[in-house]
Amino acid sequence: MTPEEFRAAAHELVDWIADFRLRVPDLPVRSEAEPGEVRTALAGPPPERPEPFAALMDDLDRVVVPGITQIQSPGYFAWFPSNAALASVLGDMASSGLGALGITWQSAPALTELEEVVTEWLRELCGLAPEWRGAIHDTASTACLVAMLAARERATGLGETRGGLQAEPAPLVVYATAQAHSSVPKAVLLAGFGRENLRLVDVDPVTYAMDPGSLRAAMAADVAAGRRPAAVVASIGTTGTTAVDPVAEIVTVAAEHGAWVHVDAAMAGSAMLLPECRHLFAGVDGADSLSWNPHKWLGTVLDTSLLYVRDVAHLTAVMSTNPSYLRSAVDGEVTQYKDWGIPLGRRFRALKLWFHLRLDGAEAIRARLRRDLDNARWLAGEVEAEPGWELLAPVTLQTVCLRHVPAELVGTDGSVTDLDALDAHTLGWVERVNASGRAFLTAALLEGRWMARVSIGAEPTERGDVEALWTLAREAVAPHR
Ligand SMILES: Cc1ncc(COP(=O)(O)O)c(C=O)c1O
Repeated sequence: MTPEEFRAAAHELVDWIADFRLRVPDLPVRSEAEPGEVRTALAGPPPERPEPFAALMDDLDRVVVPGITQIQSPGYFAWFPSNAALASVLGDMASSGLGALGITWQSAPALTELEEVVTEWLRELCGLAPEWRGAIHDTASTACLVAMLAARERATGLGETRGGLQAEPAPLVVYATAQAHSSVPKAVLLAGFGRENLRLVDVDPVTYAMDPGSLRAAMAADVAAGRRPAAVVASIGTTGTTAVDPVAEIVTVAAEHGAWVHVDAAMAGSAMLLPECRHLFAGVDGADSLSWNPHKWLGTVLDTSLLYVRDVAHLTAVMSTNPSYLRSAVDGEVTQYKDWGIPLGRRFRALKLWFHLRLDGAEAIRARLRRDLDNARWLAGEVEAEPGWELLAPVTLQTVCLRHVPAELVGTDGSVTDLDALDAHTLGWVERVNASGRAFLTAALLEGRWMARVSIGAEPTERGDVEALWTLAREAVAPHR
């Protein structure tokens, strides 16, 4: 494709994207594709000869669009917001168009230094202490793995340069709660600690937040048994209920054993932009690492995950490589992001944040986040006021966890008579909402029982859309009202 051919096709594609975004509200929110349907429609011999652009666009329209769940729909309330602000999409296009290669500072000085600029902007916007230095990773899962590797190496005094974990005299232990995202145990396992050395600390039965007293007791028990506390992963905004682990107290307890504290605020981190929400992050400046995803609620298109650390020298000691072909005269003067994480080659992701922040501005982003918080409070109020419905967890941010209990399942003493029937009812009405195509929400287990999660925060979701969802939910339980 020549630059002129690209110009023509790209104009068409940009028009197509704009039109697509305009019609998203009319599409079924959950994809109605059957397993294998997309593959069957698009499989065939690999193309040997160029095809017309129009043929490709036709397949995009006909097969790919119905083959995705419409995360950018105002009726999207599932999992967590995964916004793709169009301003950041422009940055993504610029990133691919530039074709830059981020392997060293020398391979693309702007890629490195713009990443320094935008991570510093976000540090400031979030009110984090100046010691934090950030880098952009693909996901919070990767960021957590990097944090666990850094924690392991601090606990072992860079044991990787000797016999590694296999030479450690005592097992190293990591602490989190059962509410932590699945990427947390995954990172702990991948970093070599072993499942036997992952402690799931008790949570408060009402807030689902880590109980610092139980953390202290678990660490003491491990020490008494000859094991060494190495790290704690605190979650601010758990995936299930947006529970907030008390980071300030966790930092104090961890410090008694020199354990690393990683804060996973993947979804909730965006709330740091709002001064009125910063109390949820109290103590975070005492942690060792902190990750959050602008590619969730903030709205920068995937993949844009931030990992901040306070001790860059330690991180680079763990991660750095120095093969002859990557050396340059400026090494030592410049940031080498290859030494801040796992991959060598890095995309120019900073452009996505740069475009997003410059074209939309923090003020508008804050207003949108506040709108979502307000909508969640409104829905929570409706649920509380409606007979037969209950809130299952405090609404700390934009996620509302709820359940409908049909009158026939309530015993004379007010308790539920058949929990399995209640589970079936919850899964049934959630499926009826999702099958309607007008909204999509997620059922999830809380303490072994099904609940519905309404995660508010898609960029186009306004109060009217939340009202429509609430009507839909009440209709979906109608036979049982
Ligand atoms: C609290 C929390 N941590 C981590 C993750 C994983 O994020 P990513 O998809 O960026 O790995 C999620 C996403 O669901 C999350 O909610």
